[in-house]
Amino acid sequence: MWRKIFGVGKRGTADTEENLSPHLAVDRESMPRHIAIVMDGNGRWAKAQGRSRSAGHEAGAHTLKSIVRAASNMGIEVLTVYAFSTENWKRPHREVDFLLNLFDSFLEQEIAEIHAQNVRMRFLGRRDRFTDRFLRRMEDTEERTGPNTGMRFNLAANYGSQDEILRAVRSVAVRVAAGEITPEEIDETFFSNVLDTAGDPPVDLFIRTSGDLRLSNFLLWQSAYAELYFTETHWPDFTPEELARAIEEFAGRSRRFGGLDPEK
Ligand code: IPE
Ligand code: IPE
Ligand code: MG
Repeated sequence: MWRKIFGVGKRGTADTEENLSPHLAVDRESMPRHIAIVMDGNGRWAKAQGRSRSAGHEAGAHTLKSIVRAASNMGIEVLTVYAFSTENWKRPHREVDFLLNLFDSFLEQEIAEIHAQNVRMRFLGRRDRFTDRFLRRMEDTEERTGPNTGMRFNLAANYGSQDEILRAVRSVAVRVAAGEITPEEIDETFFSNVLDTAGDPPVDLFIRTSGDLRLSNFLLWQSAYAELYFTETHWPDFTPEELARAIEEFAGRSRRFGGLDPEK
């Protein structure tokens, strides 16, 4: 039962970008519920064009805007993107500053549209190194879009999966020590719900752009059974059409979860 799912936003308007949203030849049951993306390669894209790394990050922000819209139009339940890792603080001060300002202006410019698309936005990661201004922006965004009923959009900033797991373990240890819960109550479901992605289904499709074949500390618990899709495309060149191709490839994979293929 194959049918085309056309890109029609829940509160979509008939503007030109919407008309460009890709057509997917994928059965709805074969669609990934949760897509995670390591948006890598802004620097290499910029270098190839003889431009600054900053220009690469700006182009990357533009791509993010179009991918959020496309994923939402395709009916994806959760999109989680890696914007800044706990390891990225090692970069030159100037680049870190540029990125943090870019996140702030991205939110300032995009929040109205994200909200209009009925998208619920949330931030994953540590909040201890951001400016008060950015923290307020994050909180306002979560509060404003919280009641929306469309796609969940998680932006991982100052995020590391090992850090997330340790924060979760510590919070659970405190509750055990206080006698609120017993160690036996800590199963996979319980633990999934104390992570930053609480309430989200596990990652089905894990995409990394720009050719490196590693996870770089992104969603290690949540991606336990994710299908991996690596592409040479640098993030600024990633398009809704390539997202559609990744989803189509995903739909053709045999996911066995340790069991046997029912068709064989
Ligand atoms: C991804 O692009 C963006 C961030 C990590 C913030 P990079 O900046 O890592 O680009 P490359 O890997 O140097 O090309
Ligand atoms: C991963 O990219 C983090 C983000 C995309 C935000 P990096 O460029 O930081 O990863 P490594 O250093 O190549 O592992
Ligand atoms: Mg990189």
